[in-house]
Amino acid sequence: MSASVQASPVSVPAAALLEKIKDRTARVGVVGLGYVGLPFAVEKAKVGFQVLGFDRSALRVGQVNAGESYIGDVRGQELRTLVLGRGLLRATGDWDRLADMDVVVICVPTPLTRNLTPDLQYIEAVTAELALRIRPGQLICLESTTYPGTTDEVMRPLLEATGLRAGVDFYLAFSPERVDPGNQRYSTRNTNKVVGAEGASREVALAFYRQAILHVVPVSSSRAAEMVKVFENTFRAVNIALVNELAMLCDRMDLDVWEVLDAAGTKPFGIMSFYPGPGVGGHCIPLDPHYLEWKAREFNFNTRFIALAGEINRHMPEFVVEKALRLLSDRGRGLQGSRILALGVAYKQDVDDPRESPAGEVIRLLEARRATVVYHDPFVPRFSEFGLDLQSLPLTEAEVRQADLVLVLTDHSTVDYAMVVREAVQLLDTRNATRRVPGPKPSVVLL
Ligand SMILES: NC(=O)c1ccc[n+]([C@@H]2O[C@H](COP(=O)([O-])OP(=O)(O)OC[C@H]3O[C@@H](n4cnc5c(N)ncnc54)[C@H](O)[C@@H]3O)[C@@H](O)[C@H]2O)c1
Repeated sequence: MSASVQASPVSVPAAALLEKIKDRTARVGVVGLGYVGLPFAVEKAKVGFQVLGFDRSALRVGQVNAGESYIGDVRGQELRTLVLGRGLLRATGDWDRLADMDVVVICVPTPLTRNLTPDLQYIEAVTAELALRIRPGQLICLESTTYPGTTDEVMRPLLEATGLRAGVDFYLAFSPERVDPGNQRYSTRNTNKVVGAEGASREVALAFYRQAILHVVPVSSSRAAEMVKVFENTFRAVNIALVNELAMLCDRMDLDVWEVLDAAGTKPFGIMSFYPGPGVGGHCIPLDPHYLEWKAREFNFNTRFIALAGEINRHMPEFVVEKALRLLSDRGRGLQGSRILALGVAYKQDVDDPRESPAGEVIRLLEARRATVVYHDPFVPRFSEFGLDLQSLPLTEAEVRQADLVLVLTDHSTVDYAMVVREAVQLLDTRNATRRVPGPKPSVVLL
């Protein structure tokens, strides 16, 4: 435990809950069975807890109960064993079952409004359901990424309006999820987990997370833990913006940004590798820094790095389209009437998640300039973000040859880049996905 986080004596109801947590008889509810909630529910069931998932999607509830995984990081066989074999995991849409839970973990979405301000409607809706059913002795943990103050300023008053007190009658904590979809090395279990709460709430929450996670990092409050998470994602957004800006400068100076970054990355200290690309996507990096930006305004504080990083990262699709146009005009063509094959629309390598993917904005801009865009993505059979509705085409030699330009937007590892490089008339690679294709590559231009 860190020096600044002191253990405090636990009350009698906390001691009872601690007992149940330690002998794993505590019943665990996980609200929101998405990319975060389902892997979490599986981890808890694997160590022997009886887990009940709650989701407002009847489809997802049915899939979990049938042992069918819809999340890449959850293996179907594992889910089936837990649900149908060992009977440790079930799902429901019946909110009244919340009252039966000893621990409730909330993993619902935290999007932005159209004006880039926090949209807490999902957290508020779940908290309202909980407030109707909360009982003494329950631990409630928020995992959704949000601004510092959400647990204390939004959830706590709604829950305490019942007359029960946080830290005395029930326990309230924030513990940010750090899942990295598609990461084969770090899963929920071996990724260090930050837990923030005060007093008895912290003791109970730490005990709960320690059951299934190898290393738990306590911090002194839910606000501190909320800040940890938004800082982590802001750190990524800012560093990605820095290399994106470098990519645009290198383009102007006729330097290969990948060569520069690879060489810089060989310094054994004081540097960390980030890579440029067509923009940032997913449910985290493009959104979370704006949560902090919004909260900072309450303190009359401008988060200038966040604003600048957002501006640069949001400009990248425009830059990619401009570079595509330059390549086409070198061959006497324009965007209008050209056929462009986009390779990859998921927001990052080897995942099936297209949310906020920069590919959407790139395709939209290309179509606005009258290009015909088709795509191939082995993970995303249908792409219906950003008002688009496209279906993935099979990646054949004929399809590649037919395109005036092949545009790599996501570097999925299962694509046959050697074939694509060989057959493409021209290829703009925004991810350096073709780096491992040996030999000369006259058709390839890097971002
Ligand atoms: N996806 C990631 O890689 C990732 C990583 C770290 C943190 N997070 C954070 O975790 C949170 C959840 O993200 P996600 O990617 O798992 O979202 P998701 O969209 O994959 O899943 C959310 C689930 O919540 C359900 N839901 C929505 N409202 C509900 C309600 N009122 N009651 C019950 N269920 C409800 C949805 O049906 C869905 O199944 C977000 O705050 C996100 O920022 C996500």
